[in-house]
Amino acid sequence: MEAAETPALFSKKGFYGALMEWAMRDERFKTQLFRFVDVLPTLTSSQEITRHLNEYLGEEQVQISAALRLGLKAASGASWLFGGGIKSQVTGMARQFMLGNDPKEIIEILLKLHKQDTAFTVDVLGEAVVSEPEADQYAQRYLDLLDLLGREVSKRQPPCKSNQGSRGPLPALNVSVKLSALYSQVHPTDPKTAVRHISQRLRPILRRAKELGAFVNFDMESYALKDLTLESFRTIFEESEFAEGPLCGLALQAYLRDSKADLHRMVDWARTQNRRITVRLVKGAYWDYETVMAHQRHWPVPVFAEKAQTDANFEKLSQFLLENDRVVDSAFGTHNVRSIANVLAHAERLGVNPRAFEFQMLYGMADSIKSAVLQIGCRLREYCPVGELLPGMAYLVRRLLENTSNEGFLANKYAKGAGREELLKNPLEIPAPPSVPAPAHAGHEFQNEPLTDFTITKERERMTQAITALRDDLGRRQPLLINNKAVTTAEWLPSLNPANQSEVVGYAAQASITQAEEALSAARAAQPKWARVAAHDRAEFLEKIATLMRRDKAGLCALEVLEAGKNWTEADADVAEAIDFCDFYAAVMRDLGQPKLTQKVAGETNSQHWLPRGVGVIIAPWNFPLAIVTGMTTAAVVAGNTVIVKPSDQTPIIGARLVSLCLEAGLPPGVVNLITGPGSTVGAHLVGHPRLDFIAFTGSKEVGLKIWESAGRTLPGQRDLKKVVCEMGGKNCIIVDSDADLDEAVVGCIASAFGYQGQKCSALSRLIVLEDNYDKFLNRLIAAADSLRVGPAELPGSIIGPVISRDAQQRILAIIETGKKEAKLAWQGSVPDNANACYVPPTIFADVPASSWLFREEIFGPVLAVTRAKDFDEALSLANDSDFALTGGCYSRSPENIALVKAEMVCGNLYINRGITGAVVERQPFGGFKMSGGGTKAGGREYLENFLVPRVITENCLRRGFAPAEES
Ligand code: FDA
Repeated sequence: MEAAETPALFSKKGFYGALMEWAMRDERFKTQLFRFVDVLPTLTSSQEITRHLNEYLGEEQVQISAALRLGLKAASGASWLFGGGIKSQVTGMARQFMLGNDPKEIIEILLKLHKQDTAFTVDVLGEAVVSEPEADQYAQRYLDLLDLLGREVSKRQPPCKSNQGSRGPLPALNVSVKLSALYSQVHPTDPKTAVRHISQRLRPILRRAKELGAFVNFDMESYALKDLTLESFRTIFEESEFAEGPLCGLALQAYLRDSKADLHRMVDWARTQNRRITVRLVKGAYWDYETVMAHQRHWPVPVFAEKAQTDANFEKLSQFLLENDRVVDSAFGTHNVRSIANVLAHAERLGVNPRAFEFQMLYGMADSIKSAVLQIGCRLREYCPVGELLPGMAYLVRRLLENTSNEGFLANKYAKGAGREELLKNPLEIPAPPSVPAPAHAGHEFQNEPLTDFTITKERERMTQAITALRDDLGRRQPLLINNKAVTTAEWLPSLNPANQSEVVGYAAQASITQAEEALSAARAAQPKWARVAAHDRAEFLEKIATLMRRDKAGLCALEVLEAGKNWTEADADVAEAIDFCDFYAAVMRDLGQPKLTQKVAGETNSQHWLPRGVGVIIAPWNFPLAIVTGMTTAAVVAGNTVIVKPSDQTPIIGARLVSLCLEAGLPPGVVNLITGPGSTVGAHLVGHPRLDFIAFTGSKEVGLKIWESAGRTLPGQRDLKKVVCEMGGKNCIIVDSDADLDEAVVGCIASAFGYQGQKCSALSRLIVLEDNYDKFLNRLIAAADSLRVGPAELPGSIIGPVISRDAQQRILAIIETGKKEAKLAWQGSVPDNANACYVPPTIFADVPASSWLFREEIFGPVLAVTRAKDFDEALSLANDSDFALTGGCYSRSPENIALVKAEMVCGNLYINRGITGAVVERQPFGGFKMSGGGTKAGGREYLENFLVPRVITENCLRRGFAPAEES
């Protein structure tokens, strides 16, 4: 092996050799190169290829020396960097790792492997299925593949050496399956349904495999799917039909901290079932993804942080597998010579026959190591992906990353020329690198509340129990809360479950004008004293509220599920955001509470302070029933104001829960008062009141504009110009470029348009698709929408639930009817036949003209207008042709088009290559302008300033010519 030639991939002679060498030298080049490789298969014309090539790898984009540039040109033997031939070069690079799609070629390659004594496992490329028809197609491709290979393989006798094990011959036909491709609607809250659907598509595959005597392996994908994969494996192979066959196995990833426990569990399962399974031990292919996602979500990182830890764990688990050779067959998926040697050493020590286990390696990698493994008499299986280039890109990029990873064995051996000592070092002896201190936070300590990980069984149980407990306690009367005292009223309004209009969540007191006046007086009376409470003490109250919300998290989520019709994950995100608002505004106020020096000058101090505005009313919507009311209330209160909270008529019980939590946290009487009742009377009265100083409003444009106008009118006796913090709706748009990653675009657009039934001010309602992609994208979008699960929010896994109320339902249904006259109804989903619920079928209109009502007006429901654009400029001008400016997005892989939308798309929050909803506090301060609002950014550092007035204090420090040292 030592003497063997450097593999093509790492050879400086070859095209990829040169690319890989530079990629390892320069991170920027690597990123640009891999991004270019990722987009390339979607580019259909040579102009497009040249344009992208320049945008990614042009001289201004990456700095590679002239010599290197020339070198690369020479290496490839073609002017690859300047246009022609690049697609075939990259296709060639991909073909190094994949077998392609042509049955004849596949058979030829597998035959060649057979002749080289190497066994195979084939995998069908394609991981992201966005709809159920796509999952059906994927399953069918496996059946076709089994048929094709079944015919061929039966011709090959005797089995190749690597298929001759210590217990007899092994199936020559071996397939590896990715479960995520067998069901498009996997949802963390509902693994049971996912297992059911996956099993339905697996059964024909397993049946066919059993008939053909084939072996089926379950690959392991991202951590979020790990438990689901294990559960699917156990469930289906416990079915009587598959209890005896086919032979089966699964991959486990040693980079996971859980892997030891999982491996032990699977070995126990095999023992109990009395069934020999194969465990393919790998290190894991998604290290970067797992690390980044866990950090983004503030979840524990599921993978080891150090490569040596993964290697050491691989060795430990290898030993365990070999020790359990009586129960399970082992397959070691590695190209690392140290890991291989360690397996062999353990096997020898334990007396395990070296033909009782096998090594597995990836097609196109580590050829010399493969030869060495065969030469020493071990069994070798190659993992052979088949399929088209486009779905194979994710796989190719993973392989390229692996080959250029600074930590990877292959790169170290072949590219960096690491010596034997270093390569074979015991991972336990490799010292951990010095820990890097976390970057100092800019001025304050704040961490977002993590979302609940519903893949954890305990979390799902907690939620189910919370819904049950709440249901036992529904229908209570919720009084007003004025001066920290409950106040009952003559009238009460029931708040109904949108999924069941006969279920009363609670009754909200209906305040009279007199009671609204009482609340205002209470707030007025309390304000001066509250303003004197030190900023850090006020901040502490907010932190207490956050703690109480954390304590009641599941209960609050359950309340959102039943009162607002939010599904589990949407409800959980809303509660987390409410907690974030409390903690974040507390942190910001601590900072604002410190006077800031404006300019240093001798003999004088100049500092800016902030004073509260006074008394305000908080008028909140129902669509983020806890987060928005909490954000507006806590921002105002921590700034030293007192408030009257008026929650929406549709979610008064949740609004009241916030005020109760404020009181429980110890806020003094009168600081936060609760008024429920009709907005048109009580709300309007408060807004127009001369003794009110500010209004914080989030809701419809119609009401927002009235408030804006009413607040601008100054009444006799009024002492203050009223401040209006106003957040209204949007007619938000996403552009899908002709080079967009459609797998991602479909998923992001569906979530943005139909998440919470489109009832988010940030929701997608105008989708502008470039002509080249229009039909293809629309078809996939419709298929994906058609696959969404519709049902009551309390049912785990429901994506589309009912809209908020009967009125909303009737209004949206009427809009859809009118829309049919203006544009083409491209698709309408079906909803449960339940007269008691407020369902609206999700709807997609296509070819919507820019002049139409559907394109221009906010609907606030699950209705999406799709419009065609002939080029990117037209798409951008259509996007900007709106009275609103809230959220916007663009799916594109053209750096220039991305730069263009960054510069010119008119919206308050712009998202590139992701969905446009789900802003996170501090990370994405949220809010729009034009008819979307007053330009304030909730969840941003400046937000609190809306509730404060600045004051500058100048003090002359000179006394008869003497100035104290620190003030001069
Ligand atoms: P090497 O010794 O160079 O190890 C590289 C690995 O170390 C990385 O892939 C990562 O797991 C880990 N690592 C890198 N940096 C790290 C860090 N800072 N901290 C901790 N760990 C770090 N993968 C998968 O996820 N699911 C699957 O089903 C399969 N199936 C499969 C089948 C076959 C036959 C093979 C050969 C491989 C797989 N893989 C896989 C891919 C596999 O995970 C990947 O090829 C190996 O992790 C590479 O490991 P080596 O031992 O070859 O290299």
